[in-house]
Amino acid sequence: MGLVTTKEMFEKSIKEHFAVGAFNVNNMEIVQAILDAAKEENSPVILQASSSAIKYARINYLMKMVEAGLEETDVPVAIHLDHGPDFETCKMCIDAGFTSVMIDGSKYDFDENVALTKKVVDYAHERGVVVEAELGKLAGIEDDVNVASSDAMYTDPDQAKEFVEKTGCDSLAIAIGTSHGAYKFKGDAKLRFDILQKVKEKLPNTPIVLHGASTVIPELVEMCNKYGGNIPGAKGVPDEMLREASKNGVSKINVDTDLRLAMTAEIRKVFAEEPEVFDPRKYLTPARDKIKETVKHKMRDVFLSSGKA
Ligand code: G3H
Ligand code: 13P
Ligand code: ZN
Repeated sequence: MGLVTTKEMFEKSIKEHFAVGAFNVNNMEIVQAILDAAKEENSPVILQASSSAIKYARINYLMKMVEAGLEETDVPVAIHLDHGPDFETCKMCIDAGFTSVMIDGSKYDFDENVALTKKVVDYAHERGVVVEAELGKLAGIEDDVNVASSDAMYTDPDQAKEFVEKTGCDSLAIAIGTSHGAYKFKGDAKLRFDILQKVKEKLPNTPIVLHGASTVIPELVEMCNKYGGNIPGAKGVPDEMLREASKNGVSKINVDTDLRLAMTAEIRKVFAEEPEVFDPRKYLTPARDKIKETVKHKMRDVFLSSGKA
C-alpha cells in the first residue's frame, strides 16, 4: 500500500470505534517489530519519530528503514513527526517525505499556538501532508520542555472547537490526565472521560489523540527491576481505560514508554542470565520479539485495530 496519511485510517476509526496505535521509533529493531506486528494483526499503524529520535537515528535512515519495511507489508502505514517543536522541524520532515507531522504549540498561549499551527498547516496541506496539533498541557516531560505536574492543564472543549476552526489542523491532541513517561499517577489512575466526551460533542469529526498513553505494563516493570533495573513505583494508564478511549472517540494512541520497557527488560534478562554474551544479536533478537508481542497485544486487545487495515 505504501506510505499513507492518517486521513483514511482516522475516518475509519471514528466510524468503527477503534484507535490507531502510534508507536515511537528510534532504530531498526523497533521499526521491524512494529511493522511485523501490524502485518500479523492486519492493522493500520503510525510510526512516529520525535526530534530527539531524528537526532539519534538520522532522518534519512529513518525514512529508508520505513520504506524497506513497506516492501514487506500491505497494511496502511503513516510516518509522523512526534512533538514537532517548531515550524522548521515540521518543514524538514515534510520535505523528507513524512506523511504527517505534529506541531506542538502547547507551551505557547492560545493565540501563539493558533498562529504557529496555522503556519504549519498551510505548508503541510499544500504538500498533501496532515497535521496534528495540541491544546492543553500534559503533566511530565514533553520533549525538551518540562511541564511540572502542578502546571497540568486539561483541554477546554470550547477552546478546542475554536482552535480547530482557526487552524484547520487535521487531528487534535488533548489533555485529559495522561502524561509522558513511566510515572503517570501517584494514586489511582484517573482520566477525565467527561472532557473527552464534551470535546467529541463539539468536534465529532475531528480525530482525537491521546499522548502519554503507555500502560507501563507491570510485568515489564517487574522484569526490568528483577534483572537489575531501578524503576520502582512506575504506573501507567490501565488497558481497560485505553479500551474505553478507543471505543469512545480517541483515534490515535501514542506509545513509547512501553516499547522502551519491553526492549530493556529483555536485554537486561540476557545480560543477567548470560553474562558471557556479547553478540548484540543475542540480546536484540529477544528485545525485538518482546516489542512485537507488546504491539500486537495493544492492537488486538486494547486499541481494537486488528483486522482494520
Ligand atoms: O513524548 C515523547 C516521546 O516519548 C519521545 O521521547 O523525545 O525522548 O524521543 P524522546
Ligand atoms: P508514553 O510515555 O506514555 O509512552 O507516551 C508517548 C507519547 O505520548 C509520545 O508522543
Ligand atoms: Zn507525546
